Amino acid sequence: MKPGWLMLAGLALAGACREASGRLVTDAMVTGDAITAPLTQTPGDPVRGKAVFTSREAGHCVLCHRVEGLEAPFQGNVGPDLSAVGARLSPGQMRLRIADPTRLWPDTVMPAYYRTNGLHQVAAGHKGEPVLSAQEVEDVIAYLSQLEG
Ligand code: HEC
Repeated sequence: MKPGWLMLAGLALAGACREASGRLVTDAMVTGDAITAPLTQTPGDPVRGKAVFTSREAGHCVLCHRVEGLEAPFQGNVGPDLSAVGARLSPGQMRLRIADPTRLWPDTVMPAYYRTNGLHQVAAGHKGEPVLSAQEVEDVIAYLSQLEG
């Protein structure tokens, strides 16, 4: 099995044993299908966001998403192509989808990146921490917002 698929299986498993506690995204933060207010005071940095998007150690979004013209050794197609996502979704809509996609798609394989619960497989030192920090979420949004196809 390729390492990518192994990780994918792990993520799906993490999704399967989610718990109700530990949500960082609260109902009050959500308006419709978006979190309109940024998670941090510091605006997102698209350059750092691109690194988070591709890095295995951070978001590793390329495991499931493709972006036209992005240089990454592997790009998956489990999730939608994000080459023009900036034209399709507002920053607030992206924020909810990245932070806690299960609020929109209860059975999605996409991990909740800003949520501490259900991450049974994280190393002990990282228990209780979200996969991405609030700033990393904002950085990824800044990067994706630039992608308009
Ligand atoms: C394990 C696979 C997987 C990973 C990893 C993943 N996603 Fe997703 N993503 C999906 C799937 C699948 C969907 C579509 C929702 C659904 O049907 O479950 C999606 C949907 C989205 C959407 C909405 C796209 C649209 O057109 O509506 C955005 C934005 C997004 N993902 C961003 C990200 C970002 C940013 C990361 C990394 C921080 C990431 N995803 C990591 C699988 C993944």
